[in-house]
Amino acid sequence: MRPVTDLRHHGDVDARPGLEDFAVNVRGDAPPAWLRSRLVEALDEIGRYPSAEHDAAARRAVAVRHGRSPDEVLVLAGAAEGFALLPALRPRLAALVHPSFTEPEVALRTAGVPVHHVLLAAADGFQLDAAAVPEEADLVVLGNPTNPTSVLHPADTLRALARPGRVLVVDEAFMDAVPGEVESLAGEALDGVLVLRSLTKTWALPGLRAGYALGPPPLLARLAAARPHWPVGTLQLAAVAACAEPLAVAEAEAAARETAEHRAVLAAALAELPGVRVHLPAAGPYLLLRVRDGERVREALRARGIAVRRGDTFPGLTTDHLRVAVRDPRRCEPLLVALRAELEPGRVR
Ligand SMILES: Cc1ncc(COP(=O)(O)O)c(C=O)c1O
Repeated sequence: MRPVTDLRHHGDVDARPGLEDFAVNVRGDAPPAWLRSRLVEALDEIGRYPSAEHDAAARRAVAVRHGRSPDEVLVLAGAAEGFALLPALRPRLAALVHPSFTEPEVALRTAGVPVHHVLLAAADGFQLDAAAVPEEADLVVLGNPTNPTSVLHPADTLRALARPGRVLVVDEAFMDAVPGEVESLAGEALDGVLVLRSLTKTWALPGLRAGYALGPPPLLARLAAARPHWPVGTLQLAAVAACAEPLAVAEAEAAARETAEHRAVLAAALAELPGVRVHLPAAGPYLLLRVRDGERVREALRARGIAVRRGDTFPGLTTDHLRVAVRDPRRCEPLLVALRAELEPGRVR
């Protein structure tokens, strides 16, 4: 198994300032003006502790957005906090579906929880066969859509993984980038199923740390038992409430549709480059590529001012895997030009 230090590598490390950033999958450079205004308004309230009313308002808004009840909502300091809380469930065996976002593994291994990798293969389209998950796993964690493969698992496959005595964690940090949020379990009250959501990507809020968990109230209570008092601040609560409002949800939906169009354009352009394989179908705001001599290509792109996400720190992937964020076609042009220059015959050693 990889050292935990490798698993802590994320796209933000690849995206050094000054580089054209295809490594981080955040939409845009800053939150929209209306959301910024809501955060500025909330600043008036940071002279006092975050109140139960702020928390209740955020949970109510999220509950309405997903057709759940407020006691099925736990506001988090980002989906990442949800992973960090998982050891509180005292799992005996955690099955982690890979390649996938690695923070759940970091949290579990650091806490001494035995971890089993369910490795999905490119040859199978990184599709999940529920039978590959060990029966004895009392915690199963996967992403939908999955980072970095961009695979969207069918909701039925995920429902089939739920069992009495097991907690199934579905990381839906990118689900709001999927038009119609098809295959989401966020709106379903299922025993033992915990859905994690993030405001980070769609709303360009990585620095705020805001997200939430949806799940059965007793499960949320177990997760939250050892959290500090006031675990999330007033600004985070304001953002969670604001981004759950109908206008925000409609804006996210429009952005998801636009991203799907941009992704199709980028995938087609990449597929025309010599020696690039694009993993399709893709549902997230990013594409997983395979190129020969990937480490050289990544370094060469960086020298040309372009950051892409290395793939080899994801269990199951290699240095030939690269992940690129979907941007609008105009912004993708430098990536395509640089890749073409690096991949033309004679350059690949
Ligand atoms: C798949 C996935 N899940 C969760 C997270 C963490 O999200 P947050 O910023 O809400 O903690 C990330 C961040 O990169 C991610 O890629």
